[in-house]
Amino acid sequence: LQDSYLFSTIAKKVAKFTEENPEKEIIKLGIGDVTRPIVPACIEAMHKAVDEIGTKEGFKGYGPEQGYDFLRDAIVKNDYKSRGIDVEKDEIFVSDGAKCDCGNIVDIFGKENKVAITDPVYPVYLDTNIMSGRDVIYLPVTAKNNFMPELPKEKVDMIYLCFPNNPTGTVLTKEELKKWVDYAKANNSVILYDAAYEAFITEEKIPHSIYEVEGAKEVAIEFKSYSKTAGFTGVRCAYVVIPKELKGYTKDGKEISYNKLWNRRTCTKFNGVSYIVQRAAEATYSEKGKKEIKENINYYLENAKIIKKGLEEAGFTCYGGVNSPYVWLKVPDGMTSWEFFDELLEKANVVGTPGSGFGPHGEGYFRLTAFGTKENTIKAIERIKKVM
Ligand code: MLT
Repeated sequence: LQDSYLFSTIAKKVAKFTEENPEKEIIKLGIGDVTRPIVPACIEAMHKAVDEIGTKEGFKGYGPEQGYDFLRDAIVKNDYKSRGIDVEKDEIFVSDGAKCDCGNIVDIFGKENKVAITDPVYPVYLDTNIMSGRDVIYLPVTAKNNFMPELPKEKVDMIYLCFPNNPTGTVLTKEELKKWVDYAKANNSVILYDAAYEAFITEEKIPHSIYEVEGAKEVAIEFKSYSKTAGFTGVRCAYVVIPKELKGYTKDGKEISYNKLWNRRTCTKFNGVSYIVQRAAEATYSEKGKKEIKENINYYLENAKIIKKGLEEAGFTCYGGVNSPYVWLKVPDGMTSWEFFDELLEKANVVGTPGSGFGPHGEGYFRLTAFGTKENTIKAIERIKKVM
C-alpha cells in the first residue's frame, strides 16, 4: 500500500508550491472535482426539504437505510426503465458516494477471492482490496491494446471495470462489454462496474449501464453517482445496484444472495443519506433538473474538447475526452509522469494527475480534467503550449 492516497499526495505538493510561490496563479485540472454550482432545480428541492423538516408534519428522523422510495422509484424509472432495463426498487441502495461504495463493497466478499483490476485505475479499487488483504492482478490498458483490457488468463473472482474510464477517458462498446459478462458467467466471477461518468457519454453505441448487456444482471454490481453528473461532490449522493439474480457461494458451496448480504451490511453500518440530499437527487430527474444538468455536462465536454484540440495542436497524443471529462495524454519522450507533473506545475502553474499514480501502466501518461472553468481551461492550455 502506498504511504498516501494519490490525490492527497498531489494536494500536499501543490500546497507546498503555493506556499513557496504565493504570487503564482495555479490552475487545478488535477482531481476530478466539479466547479459549476449545483443547478437551481436541486437547490430549490433542498430549500423545500429544509422547510419541510422544520414542521411538525414534515419532520424526518432516521430514513430507510436503502434510500427513500421517492428516489429509488425515480432511479428505476429514469436510469433503467427508460433504457429498457429491468431493475427493481429493492435492487437499489442509495449511498453517500461511489467512492465509499466501491470501497465498502469488499465487506461482502471473502478474503480468498482473487481480484482483477485494470491498470491504470481509480486507486480506490486497488487500495481497498490491499487494505482488506486480497490478491490483486493487473490488466494493462494502454495505447497498445487501444485501452481495451484483455480477459484475464487465470480465473479471477472479482473484476473492477470503470467505463467511461477513469483515468483514461476511454469507453467500451456493448460487444466488448459482453465478453466480460461471458467471462464472468463462465468463471463464476462478479463484475464491479463503476459507471460514475455515464452522463458524459456522447456516442450512440456506448452503453450507459452494464445491464444493457444481456445476462449482466446475473454477474454484475453497478455503481452510479450524482457527483460528476449533478455536481454533488460536496453534497454526496450515489447508488449501487445489486440484482437479485446475482448469487455467490459460501466456502461450503451454499448459495448466497449479494443483494441480501449488502442489505444486511447497509442496515448495520449505515443510516442512510439525508432526506434533504435525496430530494436534491430526485430533482435531477425533473424536466427542469435534466435540462440544467445537461447544460453543465455540455459545458465540461466543451472544456474537454478545448484541452484535446489544444494539446493535439501542440503535438501531444491524447485519448478520451469525447465520452468523458478526462483527457489522457502521452507525456513527452524521456520524461516520467511525475517529472511532467513537476515541470507543468513549475513552468505553467497547471496541476494535472500523473499517470503512474493510477498504476504502473499509467507511466508515461498524464490526466487533465475538464471540470475547471472554461476561462481557466483555455488559459491552462495556452500556458502548456507555451512552455512544453
Ligand atoms: C478523480 O479525480 O479521479 C476523482 O475525482 C476521484 C473521485 O471521484 O473520488
